Amino acid sequence: MKTYNFDEYINRKNTSSVKWDETVHIFGRGDVLPMWVADMDFQAPIEVTQAIMEKAKHGIYGYTTISTSVDDAVKSWFLGRHGWDLNTEWFTYISGVVPALSATIQAFSDPGDKIILFSPVYYPFYDMIKHNDRKVLISPMQYKDGRYHMDLAHFESQLDGTVKMLLLCNPHNPGGTVWTQEELKQLGEICVEHGIIVVADEIHADLVLKGNSYTPFASISEEIALQTVTCLAPTKTFNIAGLQASVMVTPNQIMREKLQFFMKRQGHFTLNIFGISAMEAAYRHGGQWLEEVMEYIEENMDIAVSFIQNEIPEVIAFKPEGTYLLWIDCRKLGLEDEELTRRLLHKGKLALDSGKKFGKEADGFVRMNVACTRATLQEGLERLKKALQ
Ligand SMILES: Cc1ncc(COP(=O)(O)O)c(C=O)c1O
Repeated sequence: MKTYNFDEYINRKNTSSVKWDETVHIFGRGDVLPMWVADMDFQAPIEVTQAIMEKAKHGIYGYTTISTSVDDAVKSWFLGRHGWDLNTEWFTYISGVVPALSATIQAFSDPGDKIILFSPVYYPFYDMIKHNDRKVLISPMQYKDGRYHMDLAHFESQLDGTVKMLLLCNPHNPGGTVWTQEELKQLGEICVEHGIIVVADEIHADLVLKGNSYTPFASISEEIALQTVTCLAPTKTFNIAGLQASVMVTPNQIMREKLQFFMKRQGHFTLNIFGISAMEAAYRHGGQWLEEVMEYIEENMDIAVSFIQNEIPEVIAFKPEGTYLLWIDCRKLGLEDEELTRRLLHKGKLALDSGKKFGKEADGFVRMNVACTRATLQEGLERLKKALQ
């Protein structure tokens, strides 16, 4: 029997939600339906809310430590769910995966160094490299039949001895590609051969759709693990991004000590009291919620893909392998990015992420977040149709 009713509409306006309350600032209109930034319009698992309320009731919010019981909850989740056996000594907690990208860039490269990524990709990858005065090196991917493909020959040809690191998004945002073990193995072997440190952003690890399977990059071999920092978090999985809790997994002791030194230098030493409780409760008790939410998201994806096929044949959307983000290929419309965005916003009153944000390779695409109620999804799809016709 199902516990959760994801059809229930919960008003998020005026709740300090970036997605719902920042549209005037970001898109210039307050009357658009927000289906952009990657969080869900669903309440988190009840056990998470209960854990936070327990803490809140205590009323004392002093300096907080992260107990071994949190470590155990993270470890058990990844072992139970993904068969990945993590040593808790490898953990370094941090408030978010984007801060983790920045911390690892600072720890393992110097200003002016080149850092490579596969484009298109989650846009803060570019920002974190640039904001830290490093250079972005792009390995463009090919999009074929709804899946991204890394061009490993091109990738390797770029590794001229001056490239220090790779930022990898596994599973991939925005394309929703869940990299296979074989793809990751080939990539990993190249990285080992060239001594490239890999930061694997695996925040979407748990959000995999039926028929696909997430492979932790660092689980492929010990050699690969020893030059990888994996960024994990319960925040995307359980819709608790506002609580800011994630963990970097660094099996290589020398790298870990270096990373921890950089964290200390920034003054980071723990997480927010509510983030810690939420993280533990989510990993300990959130399994059932995740099953149910993924079932709902899977149905939303099917509905959206078939609506687009039947009602807006001018654009193409394949069901992704993972994430709750639908990647819509509007290139056949032949519109400039500005015109596409203008139509979505002013004709459709719909706020989506423009593909261009994720790299020039994604020009002509838009990203739609379907982690919303079915009624919101239907409304969004009608607006998409209106905008593009
Ligand atoms: C690939 C990826 N990494 C990181 C983040 C954000 O992580 P955090 O909120 O922990 O900084 C997102 C959010 O959409 C994401 O998609």
